[in-house]
Amino acid sequence: MTDIADLRPDRMLSVREVFGIDTELQVPAFSERDDHVPEVDAVYRFNPDVTLAILAGFMRDRRVMVQGLHGTGKSTHIEQVAARLNWPCVRLNLDGHISRLDLVGKDAVVLREGKQVTEFQEGIVPWSLQRPVALVFDEYDAGRPDVMFVIQRILEQGGKFTLMDQNRVLRPHPFFRLFATANTVGLGNLNGLYHGAQRLNHAQIDRWNIVASLNYLPADEEIAIVQARVPSLADEAGRQLVASMVAVADLTRKGFAAGDLSTLMSPRTVITWAENVEIFKNPALAFRLSFVNKCDDAERPLVAEYFQRCFDQELKESHQLSSGSHE
Ligand SMILES: Nc1ncnc2c1ncn2[C@@H]1O[C@H](COP(=O)(O)OP(=O)(O)OP(=O)(O)O)[C@@H](O)[C@H]1O
Ligand SMILES: [Mg+2]
Repeated sequence: MTDIADLRPDRMLSVREVFGIDTELQVPAFSERDDHVPEVDAVYRFNPDVTLAILAGFMRDRRVMVQGLHGTGKSTHIEQVAARLNWPCVRLNLDGHISRLDLVGKDAVVLREGKQVTEFQEGIVPWSLQRPVALVFDEYDAGRPDVMFVIQRILEQGGKFTLMDQNRVLRPHPFFRLFATANTVGLGNLNGLYHGAQRLNHAQIDRWNIVASLNYLPADEEIAIVQARVPSLADEAGRQLVASMVAVADLTRKGFAAGDLSTLMSPRTVITWAENVEIFKNPALAFRLSFVNKCDDAERPLVAEYFQRCFDQELKESHQLSSGSHE
């Protein structure tokens, strides 16, 4: 296999054919699949606006951030575009434990011909920067501010990266690409859902060329995604069931927006619920296990009412269950 640093995009793909978007655009892609290329998820459904934004990142070296509520498919969207282009992709979770040294690199003791020597081991940023790699900063708004400054320079196109301890200046590889996902737009945890989200420096937000927004989708699209994920619900009966589930999810989102609920169902939760329906063959039980038990006690009656409205069936409380009943 060719070394990753020697790989180049060597063919053009039609965006229409690969992503089903009505456009004449062509996007560069690789013939060879390096180990860093994500697996193709054959049933992934692309959202045209977000896909085009991500494609602009790959085609025109734009810095693209995908922002939106949790579980809407932001991280997987970038990965699935990369998977279709055979573009090596590295996803880095910027949790509070990632340090400057993890990103930049550090001196480490290694064995060379039986002797211990100190050698600089480059971190994920310089490694990616010198290769045709799409680096994804996942949970960008969870990164610690001091850490984020490390990446300020590479946010600029052609932005060189200085390895200070090494006295080296790195030029980005022409096919290095940079993406990020975030739940907030850098203003902190305004709605109370994203504990740990940092306020971001706006000189940094400013350097992202494109900010795509991926929030909850129209019901039909969400139903199609859930059915694609859980094939046993792919028939007409399944569609009706999933439609009711998505309707419950929608009520929780409206309830959250109105301040009645402190939590809401993401598309990820709906998928999990559908998977649990497959296991338990019982939508009410699966609902309790996938969502209701994550809610505050005081809010459960309201959630039960949402269920009742969409399923025309009572949702028993857990304590009623433990006393022997099964529905
Ligand atoms: N369009 C889609 N087609 C198929 N599956 C999808 C789609 N969108 C989301 N999913 C599925 O939903 C789940 C959540 O997606 P993902 O982890 O990408 O969300 P996210 O937006 O990055 O969430 P978070 O903000 O919590 O990081 C995944 O299992 C993914 O496969
Ligand atoms: Mg994510």
